[in-house]
Amino acid sequence: MTDRNATLTFSDGSAPVTFPILSGTIGPDVIDIRTLYGKTGKFTYDPGFLSTASCNSTITFIDGDKGELLYRGYPIEELATKCDFMEVCHLLLYGELPDVAQKKDFTGRVTKHTMVNEQMQFFLRGFRRDAHPMSVMTGLVGALSAFYPDSINLHDAHQRDISAIRLIAKMPTLVAMAYKYSVGQPYMYPRNDLSYAANFMRMMFATPCEDYKPNEVLVRAMDRIFTLHADHEQNASTSTVRLCASSGTNPFAAIAAGVACLWGPAHGGANEACLAMLGDIQANGGVAKIGEFITKVKDKNSSVKLMGFGHRVYKNYDPRAKLMRETCHEVLSELGLHDDPLFKLAMSLEKIALEDDYFVSRKLYPNVDYYSGIVQKAIGIPVPLFTAIFALARTVGWIAQLNEMIADPEYKIGRPRQLYTGATRRTVMPLAQRS
Ligand code: ACO
Repeated sequence: MTDRNATLTFSDGSAPVTFPILSGTIGPDVIDIRTLYGKTGKFTYDPGFLSTASCNSTITFIDGDKGELLYRGYPIEELATKCDFMEVCHLLLYGELPDVAQKKDFTGRVTKHTMVNEQMQFFLRGFRRDAHPMSVMTGLVGALSAFYPDSINLHDAHQRDISAIRLIAKMPTLVAMAYKYSVGQPYMYPRNDLSYAANFMRMMFATPCEDYKPNEVLVRAMDRIFTLHADHEQNASTSTVRLCASSGTNPFAAIAAGVACLWGPAHGGANEACLAMLGDIQANGGVAKIGEFITKVKDKNSSVKLMGFGHRVYKNYDPRAKLMRETCHEVLSELGLHDDPLFKLAMSLEKIALEDDYFVSRKLYPNVDYYSGIVQKAIGIPVPLFTAIFALARTVGWIAQLNEMIADPEYKIGRPRQLYTGATRRTVMPLAQRS
Protein backbone atom coordinates (compact mmCIF):
# COMPACT_ATOMS: atom_id res chain seq x y z
CA MET A 1 0.00 0.00 0.00
CA THR A 2 1.03 3.60 -0.44
CA ASP A 3 0.06 6.95 1.02
CA ARG A 4 1.17 8.89 -2.05
CA ASN A 5 -1.17 9.59 -4.92
CA ALA A 6 -1.22 11.20 -8.34
CA THR A 7 -4.24 13.18 -9.45
CA LEU A 8 -5.25 13.42 -13.07
CA THR A 9 -7.22 16.50 -14.02
CA PHE A 10 -9.12 17.13 -17.25
CA SER A 11 -9.51 20.33 -19.26
CA ASP A 12 -13.09 19.38 -20.26
CA GLY A 13 -14.51 19.84 -16.79
CA SER A 14 -14.62 16.10 -15.89
CA ALA A 15 -13.95 15.35 -12.23
CA PRO A 16 -10.28 14.70 -11.34
CA VAL A 17 -9.31 11.12 -10.53
CA THR A 18 -6.66 9.93 -8.13
CA PHE A 19 -4.33 6.97 -8.44
CA PRO A 20 -1.91 5.43 -5.95
CA ILE A 21 1.83 5.78 -6.51
CA LEU A 22 3.70 2.52 -5.91
CA SER A 23 7.40 2.30 -5.04
CA GLY A 24 9.76 -0.54 -5.84
CA THR A 25 12.90 -1.30 -3.80
CA ILE A 26 14.94 0.79 -6.26
CA GLY A 27 14.12 2.57 -9.49
CA PRO A 28 11.36 4.94 -10.54
CA ASP A 29 7.96 4.90 -8.83
CA VAL A 30 4.94 3.88 -10.89
CA ILE A 31 1.42 5.29 -11.00
CA ASP A 32 -1.06 2.45 -10.61
CA ILE A 33 -3.61 3.26 -13.31
CA ARG A 34 -5.38 -0.10 -13.35
CA THR A 35 -8.65 1.57 -12.39
CA LEU A 36 -8.35 4.37 -14.98
CA TYR A 37 -10.70 2.88 -17.56
CA GLY A 38 -13.31 1.97 -14.95
CA LYS A 39 -13.19 5.47 -13.48
CA THR A 40 -12.96 7.53 -16.69
CA GLY A 41 -13.75 5.34 -19.73
CA LYS A 42 -10.34 6.34 -21.10
CA PHE A 43 -7.18 4.34 -21.81
CA THR A 44 -3.59 5.51 -21.68
CA TYR A 45 -1.69 5.72 -24.97
CA ASP A 46 1.92 4.49 -24.86
CA PRO A 47 3.08 2.75 -28.05
CA GLY A 48 6.41 1.00 -27.51
CA PHE A 49 5.79 1.08 -23.73
CA LEU A 50 8.01 4.13 -23.25
CA SER A 51 6.40 4.94 -19.89
CA THR A 52 4.61 1.75 -18.96
CA ALA A 53 5.59 -0.88 -16.40
CA SER A 54 3.85 -4.07 -17.53
CA CYS A 55 4.47 -6.06 -14.35
CA ASN A 56 6.30 -6.05 -11.05
CA SER A 57 9.39 -8.19 -10.91
CA THR A 58 12.12 -9.21 -8.46
CA ILE A 59 14.55 -10.58 -11.02
CA THR A 60 16.56 -7.93 -12.83
CA PHE A 61 17.13 -4.23 -12.26
CA ILE A 62 18.63 -1.79 -14.76
CA ASP A 63 19.56 1.80 -14.08
CA GLY A 64 19.98 3.01 -17.62
CA ASP A 65 21.35 6.42 -16.65
CA LYS A 66 24.05 4.98 -14.41
CA GLY A 67 24.72 2.01 -16.68
CA GLU A 68 23.96 -0.48 -13.90
CA LEU A 69 22.61 -4.02 -14.25
CA LEU A 70 21.68 -6.23 -11.29
CA TYR A 71 20.44 -9.81 -11.32
CA ARG A 72 18.53 -10.39 -8.05
CA GLY A 73 20.49 -7.48 -6.56
CA TYR A 74 23.97 -8.63 -7.62
CA PRO A 75 25.93 -6.38 -10.03
CA ILE A 76 26.61 -8.01 -13.39
CA GLU A 77 30.33 -7.19 -13.02
CA GLU A 78 30.55 -9.37 -9.89
CA LEU A 79 28.49 -12.19 -11.34
CA ALA A 80 30.57 -12.19 -14.54
CA THR A 81 33.84 -12.39 -12.61
CA LYS A 82 32.95 -14.50 -9.55
CA CYS A 83 30.31 -16.96 -10.76
CA ASP A 84 29.76 -19.31 -13.66
CA PHE A 85 26.64 -19.55 -15.79
CA MET A 86 25.15 -22.46 -13.80
CA GLU A 87 25.28 -20.33 -10.63
CA VAL A 88 23.69 -17.43 -12.52
CA CYS A 89 20.93 -19.73 -13.80
CA HIS A 90 20.23 -20.90 -10.24
CA LEU A 91 20.15 -17.29 -9.07
CA LEU A 92 17.73 -16.18 -11.78
CA LEU A 93 15.44 -19.18 -11.43
CA TYR A 94 15.33 -19.60 -7.67
CA GLY A 95 16.31 -16.16 -6.36
CA GLU A 96 19.59 -17.04 -4.62
CA LEU A 97 23.12 -18.03 -5.59
CA PRO A 98 23.60 -21.73 -4.87
CA ASP A 99 25.86 -23.07 -2.13
CA VAL A 100 28.23 -25.91 -3.03
CA ALA A 101 25.65 -28.68 -2.58
CA GLN A 102 22.92 -26.73 -4.41
CA LYS A 103 25.24 -26.01 -7.30
CA LYS A 104 26.17 -29.67 -7.58
CA ASP A 105 22.53 -30.70 -7.50
CA PHE A 106 21.41 -28.04 -10.02
CA THR A 107 24.28 -28.68 -12.44
CA GLY A 108 23.61 -32.41 -12.15
CA ARG A 109 19.93 -31.94 -13.00
CA VAL A 110 20.76 -29.76 -16.02
CA THR A 111 23.47 -32.17 -17.16
CA LYS A 112 21.09 -35.14 -17.06
CA HIS A 113 18.71 -33.45 -19.48
CA THR A 114 21.19 -32.39 -22.17
CA MET A 115 20.20 -35.07 -24.69
CA VAL A 116 17.17 -34.45 -26.86
CA ASN A 117 14.66 -37.03 -28.00
CA GLU A 118 16.29 -38.98 -30.84
CA GLN A 119 13.31 -38.13 -33.07
CA MET A 120 14.38 -34.47 -32.97
CA GLN A 121 17.03 -35.11 -35.61
CA PHE A 122 14.41 -36.36 -38.06
CA PHE A 123 12.33 -33.27 -37.40
CA LEU A 124 15.43 -31.16 -38.08
CA ARG A 125 15.90 -32.91 -41.42
CA GLY A 126 12.75 -31.24 -42.71
CA PHE A 127 14.61 -27.92 -42.87
CA ARG A 128 16.67 -26.72 -45.81
CA ARG A 129 20.37 -26.89 -45.02
CA ASP A 130 20.75 -23.17 -45.74
CA ALA A 131 17.91 -22.14 -43.40
CA HIS A 132 18.80 -19.37 -40.97
CA PRO A 133 19.55 -20.96 -37.56
CA MET A 134 16.95 -18.73 -35.91
CA SER A 135 14.21 -20.09 -38.18
CA VAL A 136 15.36 -23.57 -37.26
CA MET A 137 15.52 -22.71 -33.55
CA THR A 138 12.02 -21.21 -33.58
CA GLY A 139 10.76 -24.52 -34.98
CA LEU A 140 12.85 -26.81 -32.77
CA VAL A 141 12.03 -25.05 -29.50
CA GLY A 142 8.32 -24.97 -30.32
CA ALA A 143 8.52 -28.66 -31.22
CA LEU A 144 9.86 -29.58 -27.78
CA SER A 145 6.27 -29.43 -26.49
CA ALA A 146 5.47 -32.33 -28.82
CA PHE A 147 8.38 -34.34 -27.45
CA TYR A 148 7.93 -33.60 -23.74
CA PRO A 149 4.16 -33.50 -23.20
CA ASP A 150 4.61 -34.55 -19.55
CA SER A 151 5.88 -31.07 -18.60
CA ILE A 152 3.65 -28.69 -20.54
CA ASN A 153 1.14 -27.71 -17.86
CA LEU A 154 2.10 -24.13 -17.11
CA HIS A 155 -0.02 -24.04 -13.98
CA ASP A 156 1.80 -26.96 -12.34
CA ALA A 157 4.91 -25.64 -10.53
CA HIS A 158 6.64 -29.04 -10.69
CA GLN A 159 6.10 -29.33 -14.44
CA ARG A 160 7.29 -25.75 -14.93
CA ASP A 161 10.48 -26.62 -13.09
CA ILE A 162 11.06 -29.71 -15.22
CA SER A 163 10.52 -27.69 -18.41
CA ALA A 164 12.89 -25.01 -17.11
CA ILE A 165 15.64 -27.57 -16.59
CA ARG A 166 14.88 -29.25 -19.91
CA LEU A 167 15.02 -25.97 -21.82
CA ILE A 168 18.26 -24.77 -20.22
CA ALA A 169 19.83 -28.21 -20.75
CA LYS A 170 18.67 -28.79 -24.30
CA MET A 171 19.19 -25.36 -25.87
CA PRO A 172 22.96 -25.89 -26.38
CA THR A 173 22.26 -29.30 -27.91
CA LEU A 174 19.68 -27.83 -30.29
CA VAL A 175 21.87 -24.87 -31.32
CA ALA A 176 24.79 -27.22 -31.99
CA MET A 177 22.51 -29.60 -33.93
CA ALA A 178 21.22 -26.69 -36.05
CA TYR A 179 24.83 -25.77 -36.81
CA LYS A 180 25.97 -29.32 -37.60
CA TYR A 181 22.96 -29.78 -39.87
CA SER A 182 23.80 -26.60 -41.77
CA VAL A 183 27.34 -27.79 -42.50
CA GLY A 184 26.37 -31.40 -43.15
CA GLN A 185 28.33 -32.86 -40.23
CA PRO A 186 27.07 -35.57 -37.85
CA TYR A 187 25.50 -34.35 -34.62
CA MET A 188 27.72 -34.70 -31.56
CA TYR A 189 26.01 -36.05 -28.45
CA PRO A 190 26.48 -34.05 -25.25
CA ARG A 191 29.23 -35.08 -22.82
CA ASN A 192 28.17 -34.88 -19.21
CA ASP A 193 31.67 -34.63 -17.76
CA LEU A 194 32.16 -31.19 -19.32
CA SER A 195 30.94 -27.82 -18.06
CA TYR A 196 27.87 -26.27 -19.67
CA ALA A 197 29.93 -23.96 -21.91
CA ALA A 198 32.63 -26.53 -22.72
CA ASN A 199 30.03 -29.13 -23.62
CA PHE A 200 28.37 -26.68 -25.99
CA MET A 201 31.67 -25.85 -27.67
CA ARG A 202 32.51 -29.51 -28.06
CA MET A 203 29.11 -30.27 -29.61
CA MET A 204 29.80 -27.41 -32.02
CA PHE A 205 33.38 -28.10 -32.97
CA ALA A 206 34.14 -31.80 -32.43
CA THR A 207 33.49 -34.43 -35.09
CA PRO A 208 33.35 -38.20 -34.68
CA CYS A 209 36.84 -38.29 -36.28
CA GLU A 210 38.43 -35.59 -34.16
CA ASP A 211 37.60 -34.57 -30.62
CA TYR A 212 37.63 -30.94 -29.48
CA LYS A 213 39.81 -30.04 -26.51
CA PRO A 214 38.11 -27.11 -24.79
CA ASN A 215 40.44 -24.15 -24.31
CA GLU A 216 39.94 -22.61 -20.85
CA VAL A 217 40.07 -18.99 -22.00
CA LEU A 218 37.56 -19.60 -24.78
CA VAL A 219 35.27 -21.61 -22.51
CA ARG A 220 35.35 -18.78 -19.98
CA ALA A 221 34.51 -16.32 -22.75
CA MET A 222 31.55 -18.42 -23.86
CA ASP A 223 30.38 -18.78 -20.27
CA ARG A 224 30.59 -14.99 -19.89
CA ILE A 225 28.58 -14.45 -23.08
CA PHE A 226 25.90 -16.68 -21.53
CA THR A 227 25.97 -14.79 -18.22
CA LEU A 228 25.83 -11.34 -19.81
CA HIS A 229 22.84 -12.29 -21.96
CA ALA A 230 20.96 -14.29 -19.33
CA ASP A 231 18.31 -11.70 -18.48
CA HIS A 232 17.52 -8.06 -19.12
CA GLU A 233 14.16 -7.34 -17.46
CA GLN A 234 11.16 -6.50 -19.67
CA ASN A 235 12.84 -6.27 -23.10
CA ALA A 236 10.93 -7.14 -26.28
CA SER A 237 11.52 -10.90 -26.25
CA THR A 238 10.90 -11.26 -22.51
CA SER A 239 7.69 -9.27 -22.79
CA THR A 240 6.77 -11.54 -25.71
CA VAL A 241 7.35 -14.63 -23.58
CA ARG A 242 5.25 -13.17 -20.76
CA LEU A 243 2.43 -12.15 -23.10
CA CYS A 244 2.48 -15.48 -24.89
CA ALA A 245 2.50 -17.47 -21.64
CA SER A 246 -0.23 -15.29 -20.14
CA SER A 247 -2.74 -17.16 -22.29
CA GLY A 248 -1.78 -20.35 -20.44
CA THR A 249 0.11 -21.89 -23.35
CA ASN A 250 2.94 -24.31 -22.57
CA PRO A 251 6.47 -23.16 -21.62
CA PHE A 252 8.10 -24.49 -24.81
CA ALA A 253 5.66 -22.54 -27.02
CA ALA A 254 6.22 -19.38 -24.98
CA ILE A 255 10.01 -19.67 -25.23
CA ALA A 256 9.70 -20.30 -28.99
CA ALA A 257 7.83 -16.98 -29.20
CA GLY A 258 10.74 -15.34 -27.36
CA VAL A 259 13.20 -16.86 -29.84
CA ALA A 260 11.15 -15.47 -32.74
CA CYS A 261 11.11 -11.98 -31.23
CA LEU A 262 14.80 -12.03 -30.39
CA TRP A 263 15.64 -12.69 -34.04
CA GLY A 264 14.97 -9.06 -35.08
CA PRO A 265 17.96 -6.82 -35.87
CA ALA A 266 16.78 -4.18 -33.38
CA HIS A 267 17.07 -6.82 -30.62
CA GLY A 268 19.11 -10.04 -30.62
CA GLY A 269 19.98 -9.85 -34.29
CA ALA A 270 22.11 -6.78 -33.61
CA ASN A 271 25.36 -8.70 -33.00
CA GLU A 272 25.09 -10.32 -36.43
CA ALA A 273 24.15 -6.96 -37.99
CA CYS A 274 27.04 -5.28 -36.16
CA LEU A 275 29.60 -7.72 -37.49
CA ALA A 276 28.17 -7.36 -40.99
CA MET A 277 28.48 -3.58 -40.62
CA LEU A 278 32.11 -3.81 -39.49
CA GLY A 279 32.82 -6.22 -42.35
CA ASP A 280 31.31 -3.77 -44.86
CA ILE A 281 33.35 -0.83 -43.56
CA GLN A 282 36.46 -3.00 -43.60
CA ALA A 283 35.79 -4.12 -47.17
CA ASN A 284 35.25 -0.52 -48.26
CA GLY A 285 38.49 0.91 -46.92
CA GLY A 286 38.54 0.21 -43.15
CA VAL A 287 39.47 2.85 -40.57
CA ALA A 288 39.96 5.49 -43.27
CA LYS A 289 36.28 5.19 -44.22
CA ILE A 290 34.84 5.59 -40.71
CA GLY A 291 34.15 9.30 -41.25
CA GLU A 292 32.16 8.57 -44.40
CA PHE A 293 30.20 5.85 -42.60
CA ILE A 294 29.41 8.11 -39.63
CA THR A 295 28.14 10.78 -42.03
CA LYS A 296 25.72 8.21 -43.49
CA VAL A 297 24.57 7.18 -40.01
CA LYS A 298 23.82 10.80 -39.16
CA ASP A 299 21.91 11.38 -42.39
CA LYS A 300 18.19 11.18 -41.55
CA ASN A 301 17.39 9.95 -45.06
CA SER A 302 19.89 7.09 -45.13
CA SER A 303 18.31 4.69 -42.58
CA VAL A 304 21.86 3.45 -41.81
CA LYS A 305 22.37 2.82 -38.09
CA LEU A 306 25.49 2.26 -36.11
CA MET A 307 24.64 -1.30 -35.10
CA GLY A 308 25.61 -2.26 -31.56
CA PHE A 309 25.04 1.32 -30.44
CA GLY A 310 22.04 2.68 -28.60
CA HIS A 311 19.60 1.09 -26.23
CA ARG A 312 16.06 1.77 -25.13
CA VAL A 313 17.06 1.75 -21.46
CA TYR A 314 20.81 2.44 -21.27
CA LYS A 315 21.56 6.10 -21.75
CA ASN A 316 25.12 5.41 -20.63
CA TYR A 317 27.71 2.73 -21.42
CA ASP A 318 26.04 -0.71 -21.28
CA PRO A 319 27.91 -2.43 -18.40
CA ARG A 320 27.82 -5.67 -20.38
CA ALA A 321 29.67 -3.98 -23.26
CA LYS A 322 32.58 -3.15 -20.93
CA LEU A 323 32.82 -6.79 -19.80
CA MET A 324 32.52 -7.99 -23.37
CA ARG A 325 35.27 -5.66 -24.53
CA GLU A 326 37.52 -7.11 -21.78
CA THR A 327 36.66 -10.64 -22.94
CA CYS A 328 37.35 -9.59 -26.51
CA HIS A 329 40.92 -8.60 -25.50
CA GLU A 330 41.44 -11.92 -23.66
CA VAL A 331 40.16 -14.08 -26.49
CA LEU A 332 42.04 -12.27 -29.23
CA SER A 333 45.33 -12.41 -27.35
CA GLU A 334 44.81 -16.09 -26.45
CA LEU A 335 44.33 -16.81 -30.16
CA GLY A 336 47.18 -14.53 -31.22
CA LEU A 337 44.75 -12.22 -32.99
CA HIS A 338 45.53 -8.95 -31.14
CA ASP A 339 45.92 -7.31 -34.52
CA ASP A 340 42.51 -8.47 -35.66
CA PRO A 341 41.43 -5.74 -38.11
CA LEU A 342 37.76 -5.91 -37.15
CA PHE A 343 38.55 -5.42 -33.46
CA LYS A 344 40.81 -2.48 -34.27
CA LEU A 345 38.13 -1.05 -36.53
CA ALA A 346 35.49 -1.52 -33.81
CA MET A 347 37.68 0.30 -31.25
CA SER A 348 38.34 3.22 -33.64
CA LEU A 349 34.68 3.46 -34.62
CA GLU A 350 33.65 3.41 -30.95
CA LYS A 351 36.13 6.18 -30.09
CA ILE A 352 35.02 8.40 -32.96
CA ALA A 353 31.32 7.86 -32.24
CA LEU A 354 31.76 8.58 -28.53
CA GLU A 355 33.30 11.95 -29.38
CA ASP A 356 30.67 12.89 -31.96
CA ASP A 357 27.91 15.24 -30.88
CA TYR A 358 25.24 13.21 -32.73
CA PHE A 359 25.87 10.22 -30.44
CA VAL A 360 26.72 12.23 -27.32
CA SER A 361 23.56 14.35 -27.49
CA ARG A 362 21.37 11.28 -28.02
CA LYS A 363 23.20 9.33 -25.29
CA LEU A 364 24.07 6.53 -27.70
CA TYR A 365 26.72 4.21 -26.27
CA PRO A 366 27.91 0.73 -27.27
CA ASN A 367 25.61 -2.07 -26.15
CA VAL A 368 26.62 -5.68 -25.40
CA ASP A 369 26.31 -6.66 -29.03
CA TYR A 370 29.00 -4.29 -30.18
CA TYR A 371 31.80 -6.63 -29.05
CA SER A 372 30.07 -9.99 -28.67
CA GLY A 373 30.14 -10.64 -32.41
CA ILE A 374 33.91 -10.18 -32.59
CA VAL A 375 34.40 -12.57 -29.66
CA GLN A 376 32.15 -15.20 -31.17
CA LYS A 377 33.73 -14.92 -34.59
CA ALA A 378 37.19 -15.34 -33.04
CA ILE A 379 36.00 -18.45 -31.18
CA GLY A 380 34.89 -19.88 -34.51
CA ILE A 381 31.13 -19.41 -34.24
CA PRO A 382 29.65 -18.74 -37.68
CA VAL A 383 27.96 -15.33 -37.88
CA PRO A 384 24.39 -16.58 -38.54
CA LEU A 385 24.56 -18.55 -35.27
CA PHE A 386 25.19 -15.50 -33.05
CA THR A 387 21.55 -14.79 -32.33
CA ALA A 388 20.87 -18.47 -31.64
CA ILE A 389 23.56 -18.33 -28.95
CA PHE A 390 21.91 -15.24 -27.52
CA ALA A 391 18.63 -17.22 -27.42
CA LEU A 392 20.41 -20.10 -25.67
CA ALA A 393 21.70 -17.72 -23.01
CA ARG A 394 18.46 -15.76 -22.61
CA THR A 395 16.36 -18.91 -22.15
CA VAL A 396 16.95 -18.94 -18.39
CA GLY A 397 15.84 -15.31 -18.09
CA TRP A 398 12.72 -15.96 -20.15
CA ILE A 399 11.81 -18.93 -17.95
CA ALA A 400 12.50 -17.09 -14.71
CA GLN A 401 10.24 -14.24 -15.88
CA LEU A 402 7.55 -16.63 -17.08
CA ASN A 403 7.59 -18.53 -13.76
CA GLU A 404 7.42 -15.28 -11.82
CA MET A 405 4.39 -14.16 -13.81
CA ILE A 406 2.49 -17.44 -13.45
CA ALA A 407 3.16 -17.58 -9.70
CA ASP A 408 1.93 -13.97 -9.25
CA PRO A 409 -1.63 -14.02 -7.83
CA GLU A 410 -2.34 -10.76 -9.69
CA TYR A 411 -1.44 -12.21 -13.08
CA LYS A 412 -3.99 -11.84 -15.89
CA ILE A 413 -3.90 -12.60 -19.59
CA GLY A 414 -2.06 -9.73 -21.29
CA ARG A 415 -4.44 -7.68 -23.39
CA PRO A 416 -3.34 -4.17 -24.44
CA ARG A 417 -5.97 -1.73 -25.70
CA GLN A 418 -5.74 0.65 -28.67
CA LEU A 419 -6.60 4.06 -30.01
CA TYR A 420 -8.69 3.20 -33.07
CA THR A 421 -8.11 5.59 -35.99
CA GLY A 422 -9.64 3.56 -38.84
CA ALA A 423 -12.90 3.97 -40.73
CA THR A 424 -16.07 4.48 -38.75
CA ARG A 425 -19.01 2.10 -39.26
CA ARG A 426 -19.94 1.72 -42.94
CA THR A 427 -22.00 -0.57 -45.15
CA VAL A 428 -20.68 -3.28 -47.52
CA MET A 429 -21.71 -2.42 -51.08
CA PRO A 430 -22.53 -5.24 -53.53
CA LEU A 431 -19.39 -6.15 -55.54
CA ALA A 432 -20.64 -4.64 -58.84
CA GLN A 433 -21.29 -1.27 -57.21
CA ARG A 434 -17.81 -0.89 -55.66
CA SER A 435 -15.42 1.38 -57.54
N1 ACO B 1 22.67 4.64 -34.87
C1 ACO B 1 22.30 5.89 -35.22
N2 ACO B 1 21.31 6.58 -34.63
C2 ACO B 1 20.66 5.97 -33.63
C3 ACO B 1 20.98 4.68 -33.20
C4 ACO B 1 22.03 4.00 -33.85
N3 ACO B 1 22.40 2.77 -33.49
N4 ACO B 1 20.16 4.32 -32.18
C5 ACO B 1 19.34 5.37 -31.98
N5 ACO B 1 19.64 6.37 -32.85
C6 ACO B 1 19.02 7.70 -32.92
C7 ACO B 1 17.61 7.63 -33.52
O1 ACO B 1 17.63 7.80 -34.93
C8 ACO B 1 16.94 8.78 -32.80
O2 ACO B 1 17.37 9.96 -33.40
P1 ACO B 1 16.37 11.23 -33.51
O3 ACO B 1 16.05 11.60 -32.09
O4 ACO B 1 17.13 12.26 -34.27
O5 ACO B 1 15.15 10.73 -34.24
C9 ACO B 1 17.55 8.73 -31.41
O6 ACO B 1 18.84 8.15 -31.58
C10 ACO B 1 16.74 7.93 -30.40
O7 ACO B 1 16.64 6.60 -30.88
P2 ACO B 1 15.33 5.70 -30.85
O8 ACO B 1 15.29 4.84 -32.07
O9 ACO B 1 14.13 6.56 -30.56
O10 ACO B 1 15.63 4.82 -29.58
P3 ACO B 1 14.86 3.49 -29.19
O11 ACO B 1 14.96 3.40 -27.73
O12 ACO B 1 13.52 3.43 -29.81
O13 ACO B 1 15.76 2.37 -29.91
C11 ACO B 1 17.39 0.73 -30.33
C12 ACO B 1 16.72 1.65 -29.29
C13 ACO B 1 16.31 -0.04 -31.13
C14 ACO B 1 18.27 -0.28 -29.64
C15 ACO B 1 18.23 1.61 -31.30
O14 ACO B 1 19.20 2.33 -30.55
C16 ACO B 1 18.91 0.80 -32.39
O15 ACO B 1 18.26 0.46 -33.39
N6 ACO B 1 20.24 0.45 -32.22
C17 ACO B 1 20.94 -0.36 -33.17
C18 ACO B 1 20.54 -1.80 -33.04
C19 ACO B 1 21.13 -2.44 -31.81
O16 ACO B 1 22.32 -2.33 -31.54
N7 ACO B 1 20.28 -3.17 -31.08
C20 ACO B 1 20.73 -3.92 -29.90
C21 ACO B 1 19.96 -3.52 -28.68
S1 ACO B 1 20.66 -4.33 -27.29
C22 ACO B 1 20.04 -5.88 -27.31
O17 ACO B 1 19.02 -6.20 -27.85
C23 ACO B 1 20.85 -6.85 -26.58
